[in-house]
Amino acid sequence: MPRHLHLIPLAALAFLTGCVTYPRAPKITPPERAKASRIETGDFAWGISTSSWQYENRALKPGGKLPFRTDWDILMEQGKAPTRGNTVVMSWSEFDKDVAALKKIGVTHYRFSLEWARIEPQPGRYDEAAIARYVEMTRRLQAADIEPVVCLWHFTFPDWLYDTQNPKKSNWLHPEADTRWQAYVNKVVPRLAPHVRYFAPQNEPNGQIATAYLNGQWPPAMTAAFGTYAAAVRASARQFRQAAAIIKRHRADAIVMSVQALPWWSDGWLDPTRAAYNGMMRMNFDHLDRIWDVCDIIGFNYYYSQKAGPISALGLGSHRGPNFTEMGWDIDPAGLYKQIRLVDRRYGKPMMITENGIATADDDQRKRYLEEHIAAVQQARLDGHDVRGYFVWSLLDNYEWHYGYDATFGLGKMNPRTHARELKPSAFYYRDIIRRGGVRDIPSAVLKARGGKR
Ligand code: BGC
Repeated sequence: MPRHLHLIPLAALAFLTGCVTYPRAPKITPPERAKASRIETGDFAWGISTSSWQYENRALKPGGKLPFRTDWDILMEQGKAPTRGNTVVMSWSEFDKDVAALKKIGVTHYRFSLEWARIEPQPGRYDEAAIARYVEMTRRLQAADIEPVVCLWHFTFPDWLYDTQNPKKSNWLHPEADTRWQAYVNKVVPRLAPHVRYFAPQNEPNGQIATAYLNGQWPPAMTAAFGTYAAAVRASARQFRQAAAIIKRHRADAIVMSVQALPWWSDGWLDPTRAAYNGMMRMNFDHLDRIWDVCDIIGFNYYYSQKAGPISALGLGSHRGPNFTEMGWDIDPAGLYKQIRLVDRRYGKPMMITENGIATADDDQRKRYLEEHIAAVQQARLDGHDVRGYFVWSLLDNYEWHYGYDATFGLGKMNPRTHARELKPSAFYYRDIIRRGGVRDIPSAVLKARGGKR
């Protein structure tokens, strides 16, 4: 009998009896809540988010050796991910062009990430020039009057943390992970801290861990490894807390932010005990529940809503029509409103929407999407929810993980010949929203959501 066959009846039993419980919210006292809201972050942040692996070229001479390698390189070498190439949209060498484009759009904040493997290509061997270049990027942003928001990890690990023979001991769970992560954070934060106040230690650790250990798509590509999944959540939360402490040590007024993946889940079919729904809510909150108290801002990425249940989970990605993105994601601005309300009730801290955007070739659809989601944020603020910022994903069409270059999220795109950043009409639409300080109309679905209870 295959080793894990006995788990199937157990899983079925858990499903039927509803063993999967709704994650209980942490207990927060009213004075704690009041204290959190006094954190000073200035005016509303209008931002754009990007990431190193999806944007940066490797600055290679033709035929030269790769200056660093990540776990995602290994995945591509194994033929399990689309080829990224070594140039992407050239943000390593064309950063000034990015800054000029951001300036045209008029954003106040820019979130980007550091590539750990670039900084530390071998354990303990740091590339000082790479660190200096990242510091320079933050200075260029400041010179353009744009606040840098620096993410220390956005999905990719150095290859030396990935043990292909032993995926269970890779990345977050590598025996050296805690030590090397803290050394890395201790190395980069003091260099950045004079220019950077906003630090996000990790991007969507909850989403990455689910994709890496449950559905087997991302390195270390394990499927239904529930125990390893839970261990990775614990390890990554511990490492987040280590980073938060290091950041505060180097800059007392630093703003530490989470960046969590929080789709809105609602009840679906064939889920009589709500096991699927509760399981999804656990995926949303299990990691955040372990780190919320060391965050000054609860940042989260919102893209879509989905019904929880065995059937709908299988259907993700197969929907087509005006209410779905090119990737088959349900477009639901009311879900964003409800998520803000839920996160506020759960943690009582200032929030930021650290990513929101749409993969579409239809730029008018992008305009509508942005307008309606910004409206949800605006309405939430009017209703007293402390949202301090909104970031569009993303500046340019870029490398979209398993979709390669097929899914286009950009407000602009790179001209492959000149490397010019060519902005789409939606970029100017966003500019006008920023200038006006918001949108004019609130969609009826968002207004209706205000009346709903959760
Ligand atoms: C990630 C980005 C990604 C975007 C769109 C977020 O999950 O942080 O890296 O490109 O969603 O899928």
